[in-house]
Amino acid sequence: MAQKNVLTAPSILSADFGRLADAVQIIEEAGADWVHFDVMDGSFVPNLTFGAKTAADLRPITKLPLDCHLMVSNPWDYIDSFSGAGADYFTFHVEAATHSTRVIRQIRDAGMKPGLALVPGTPVHLLDELAGDVDLILVMLVNPGFGGQELIPACLEKLKTLAQIREERGYHYLLSVDGGITTENALQAIEKGADVIVAGSAFFAAQDKAAAVRKLKGR
Ligand code: DX5
Ligand code: ZN
Repeated sequence: MAQKNVLTAPSILSADFGRLADAVQIIEEAGADWVHFDVMDGSFVPNLTFGAKTAADLRPITKLPLDCHLMVSNPWDYIDSFSGAGADYFTFHVEAATHSTRVIRQIRDAGMKPGLALVPGTPVHLLDELAGDVDLILVMLVNPGFGGQELIPACLEKLKTLAQIREERGYHYLLSVDGGITTENALQAIEKGADVIVAGSAFFAAQDKAAAVRKLKGR
C-alpha cells in the first residue's frame, strides 16, 4: 500500500451545474483535499464549462484549494481573472502556449501556483525546459473535454518518467493525474508516482464519498 500522503481533487465537472455550491460542500465533507475546477472554452476542447466568475462565487464557501485546470486556447487571457477569483493552482496546457515560460512567470506574479498539463499525445520531453519552474504537472490519461472516459494505460508511464526527472534534478512539482481514474485503478497511478488524484465521475457516482476518497488516496 502507498505510504505517502496522496491528495484527492474531485472534479466538479461531474457535478450538477445547477448545484455547484452543494458539490463543493460535498467534496469538503468527504475529506477530499482540493476542488478540481475544469475550465473548457469550446476551442481547445470540444466542450464548454465555467470561468472565473463561477470560481469567485464558489471561493467563499470552501477553504480547500481551487485547483484550476485551464483547457483553453489562450490561457494567458485568464490569469488576472482567476487570480482575482482566488484560484490557488492555475494549470494550463503546454500544447496551448508557444511562450510557456512567460505564461508561467505571469501566473506566479499574479500570486498563483503554476501548473503544466499535457494531453495523452504529448511526450514528456516537451516539458524538459519547463518542469523546474512549475509547482504541478498534470498528466492527462484521457483526451480532455469530457468526464467518464476510460483511461489510456500507456499514459501512466509518464508518471514514472516525471518522478525520476524530479528526483534527478531536485525539482519540486506535484504530479497530478486526471481522467478515467476510479477507486479500482487509483493505486496503480499512485504506485507510478502520482501525488494528486483527480476524479470526476468516480467521486460523484460513489454512494459513500468518504470511502471513495480513501480509496482514491490508495488507502
Ligand atoms: C477531463 C477533465 C477531467 C475530468 C475527469 O477533460 O480534465 O478533470 O473531469 O473526469 P473523470 O474522472 O470522470 O474522467
Ligand atoms: Zn481536469
